[in-house]
Amino acid sequence: FQSISALQLAEKYFRMYPEETEPIWGNPCDDQRHMKIWSQNKTCDQLPRFLVLGPQKTGTTALYTFLSMHPAIVSNYPSPETFEEIQFFNGKNYYKGLDWYMSFFPVPKNSTARFLFEKSATYFDGELVPRRVHALLPKAKLVIIIISPAKRAYSWYQHMRSHGDPTALNYTFYQILTAGDAQPKALRDIRFRCLSPGMYAHHLDRWLLYFPPQQISVIDGEQVRLDPVTSMTKLQHFLKIRPIFDYSLHLRYDTRKGFFCQVVNGDHTKCLGRSKGRHYPAMDVQSAKYLQSFYMTHNIALEKLLKRLGYPIPLWLEEDLSDRP
Ligand code: A3P
Repeated sequence: FQSISALQLAEKYFRMYPEETEPIWGNPCDDQRHMKIWSQNKTCDQLPRFLVLGPQKTGTTALYTFLSMHPAIVSNYPSPETFEEIQFFNGKNYYKGLDWYMSFFPVPKNSTARFLFEKSATYFDGELVPRRVHALLPKAKLVIIIISPAKRAYSWYQHMRSHGDPTALNYTFYQILTAGDAQPKALRDIRFRCLSPGMYAHHLDRWLLYFPPQQISVIDGEQVRLDPVTSMTKLQHFLKIRPIFDYSLHLRYDTRKGFFCQVVNGDHTKCLGRSKGRHYPAMDVQSAKYLQSFYMTHNIALEKLLKRLGYPIPLWLEEDLSDRP
């Protein structure tokens, strides 16, 4: 019989079971043993009922803002680092644990009447995210918002430039798109981060490994931009939120902003900040051509997937596919 310290024991254990070094937070309410040892004043009603997954630059902030206007929908508290996004399921925050995540949500007084949600645009393409979300929130509904992947990539490049990213500032969009293996790592990395989220079918398939299609809604970001009232009505039906909130009374097109904005104080509009709906030159023809061909197979796969799931095909997808080989 041999006795070793707890630390040594742990080290030995994780050498034997390396796959367990990564934590995976399950839902305490799905496990009797967890419920028994959980503090009395904790409740799973403090977890979100739906998530907006992104990807970035598709209109996620507009969608988040419009959802937050709904009297029956409650968003998370803002984070000091990542503002309206918690970014729990991707990256380092996951290691902060369940209490940290739940602290972003109010304790609901009447849980059935209010829908808690959060939006983190980095969830969509995060490698570990579907498995982690499923472990904690297997019944959650998932909202994905997509626009033309080429347009998204360019908007993301402009976003990185505005944030002072040195690579985005030092290289043209086309140079980033066409960076090959011989180029510096920073350039190859930014190319990947720019292009990868737009491979929509690939990422959707990863989510579909964990969630049934009935729990996933794919929203056309162009419709959210041009006709948010219709988009928001459809989304409320998908989420089964009652009573239906009449967005036509609360959203109005603002000619100065060039986007739909929230109606406030009777006759005024409150629009999203200057970082949403940026002004920048149109994409150069070379880059547009490159992206058209780069995303072709991905867009064909997306069309097939959307058809299989019974979703309508967005206009931009038909246009992106118009010169398919
Ligand atoms: P641009 O700034 O490139 O035009 P996200 O919030 O996911 O970062 O997406 C930002 C994009 O949302 C903006 O990209 C803009 O085109 C789009 N958008 C859609 N509806 C909007 C609205 N009502 N107000 C501002 N931007 C909106």
